Order: sequence, then C-alpha cells, then structure tokens
Amino acid sequence: MKITIENLTKQFDNHLAVNNFSAQIESGQLVSLLGPSGCGKSTMLNMLSGILTPSQGKIWFDEDDVTDVAAEKRGVGLVFQNYALYPHMTVLENICFPLEIQRVPKAERIARAKEMAQLVHVEDLLDRLPKQMSGGQQQRVAIARALVKKPRLLLLDEPLSNLDARLRIEMREEIRRIQQSIGITTIFVTHDQEEAMSISDAIILMKQGVLQQMDKPQELYDQPKNCFVADFLGNPTINKLNAVYEGGRLLVEGMPCDIETSSVPASAPLYLSCRVESVLINQKPSSIKGTIIDTYVIGKENIANIQVGNSRVRAYIDSDSALRPTEEVTLSFKNKGVFLFDANSGERYI
Ligand SMILES: Nc1ncnc2c1ncn2[C@@H]1O[C@H](COP(=O)(O)OP(=O)(O)O)[C@@H](O)[C@H]1O
Ligand SMILES: [Mg+2]
Repeated sequence: MKITIENLTKQFDNHLAVNNFSAQIESGQLVSLLGPSGCGKSTMLNMLSGILTPSQGKIWFDEDDVTDVAAEKRGVGLVFQNYALYPHMTVLENICFPLEIQRVPKAERIARAKEMAQLVHVEDLLDRLPKQMSGGQQQRVAIARALVKKPRLLLLDEPLSNLDARLRIEMREEIRRIQQSIGITTIFVTHDQEEAMSISDAIILMKQGVLQQMDKPQELYDQPKNCFVADFLGNPTINKLNAVYEGGRLLVEGMPCDIETSSVPASAPLYLSCRVESVLINQKPSSIKGTIIDTYVIGKENIANIQVGNSRVRAYIDSDSALRPTEEVTLSFKNKGVFLFDANSGERYI
C-alpha cells in the first residue's frame, strides 16, 4: 500500500511538533523516519496510525483519504520501544490476542499465530511468558502480534532502543528480513543514523518537525541538501571548517583553498564540510596546513585528529603511518564528500 502525506501539521498548544510535512511512501518499501529526540517522529507516526488527529493536512492510504478514519479501522500494525506484551500471557496467547478481540474462531487464531511465530523465529517459545525471554525475543513476539491481523502498514517506533548494541544489529537485520518476506509497507522510527542507513529503502530526515530531505540512504550521505543533513549522517561525524569567500577566492580557516567555487556570496560565514574519508594528508600541494594532535585506532582503521586553524579535522591514515603529535601536515580534499554551506542558513553552495 502506498502512503501519501500532504501538508501534515500537528500543533500542541503553541508548539508545532510536525510542520507542513509532505511525503510519498511507495508500496512495499521500508522507510525510516530519522531525526534527533523531540523532532516529531512519534507524533508523525501516531498521526499515521490514527492515535493522534492532525491539526491540518491529509493522509492517504492508496487512493483512500484516511485522515478521519478511526485507528482500529486503518489496518495498521504497531510496535513500540517497550514491547508491551501482556505479562501473564504466553507467547502464543500474546500473538493470538488481537484476533481474539476480532472474534476470529479459535482454530484459525492459533493457526495464524503459529504462522507468525514461525516468520519471526519464536516457534519454539510458544509456551513461555514474556519474563522468560530476552529483549530481542520479546520484540520478535511484539512484531508477530502486530502482523497477525495482516495489517496494510507496519509502524515501528524505536523498536530496538531497549536492546544492547549487538542485539540491535541482529534485530535490525531481522526486521528487514521479515518486512521483505511479506512485502509490507513499513515506517521505522529511529534516532540512530546507522540503523536507518543499514535497513531502509529511503530515509526521511526531520528537524524540529520539518522534513529536511527524503532520499535513498547513499544519496542522503553523498548529496545532503543542507548542513544539518550532512552533520547528522556519518560516523565519524563530517568535518567542519570555517570558511569565507573573499577577494575572489575561498579562504578556509584563513588559508587559501583551491576548491572550485561559483555563486558563493562574498564575506558570508561558510562551512567547508568534508567527510573523514575525503581528507588527504600530505598528498598534494596545498596552502591548508594543520598540526597532528593525536592518532588512534578504530577497528580496522586508524584516524588522525588534526588542528586546522580554530577547527579539528579527522582523517583516515594508514595503520603503519609515521605521523606523530605536533607534526605539521598539508591538507587537501577529494572531489567527493566535500560541501560548502552557509554557516547561518545551512544552505548548500557546492
Ligand atoms: N501530547 C503532547 N502534548 C504536548 N507536547 C507534545 C505532546 N507530544 C509530544 N509533544 C512535543 O512535541 C515534540 C515532538 O515530540 P515527539 O513526536 O515525541 O518527538 P520524537 O518522537 O521525535 O522524539 C516534542 O517537543 C514533544 O515535547
Ligand atoms: Mg519518539
């Protein structure tokens, strides 16, 4: 099922939690709703599920305007951060419960619940109580319970936040597998950019209730529309250097830089933002100088922290690099992964 969101706004008293939000989500896609805490992700999801009524705007499921349709009539499955399983019910009873409410006959209930248990790989735990399972297993049961009614749309609100780091990675792959095996349109809320990047067909990045960019994960990383998007995606975080266009050339931390620029306003404060993997050390002649602060190892890579004017830059270095603290280096940049932003508006120039 295709979802169309049209100029959706939600106002709480005088706070705009979601502001004039429009997007289209294609049938069968997994789209992440990404952004910092408090940016309006849950509010957005709750309007899609029907728990919250929008202040303005419309929501369409395929060709149906569902803006005023009651939550239980929308055919939506919900999964939250706290699994919210019924503690006194077994796994099988928990998964069956939504069908019991719908008065589905018992034999069919059990058959459908077992099918869902198999899909999420908890078929061997049917007699357990929630407290007898790990967080990951409980979240699998919660997903089975959300899917047993055969919803048209699956909404997941930070479903992995309660799990430890290793289990989070395992479960995000599981969510992708389950979603693809039944082909259900899914919206996955997270504040974790790596989680969103790893499982989504597309990501919607939000800031203070406003959609910043909707794109495929790689596109969002490679072609950020503004400084916020560039800053939010990527680990380690993108490097940011102070820059200004003056006298017909770009100065970066006060040093001339040979990056091609056009249509950049003179004297306005800018950021030259460059991905960690786009910084080159001592590889090309350049007027941009820095001083090594320290170097360290992260997994299979080594990173150098470099003081450049008033900013710090991180760059990948060879594991056998001879670079040492206090050493002076020359910095240049690859073409890819280097952007110029207006420091005030965040607007992108290159
Ligand atoms: N029922 C409510 N009443 C008033 N303000 C709310 C309510 N629900 C959420 N908000 C506010 O709306 C903003 C967005 O909240 P939320 O959608 O929960 O953000 P997120 O899920 O991205 O962390 C926050 O500033 C929050 O405090
Ligand atoms: Mg939330």
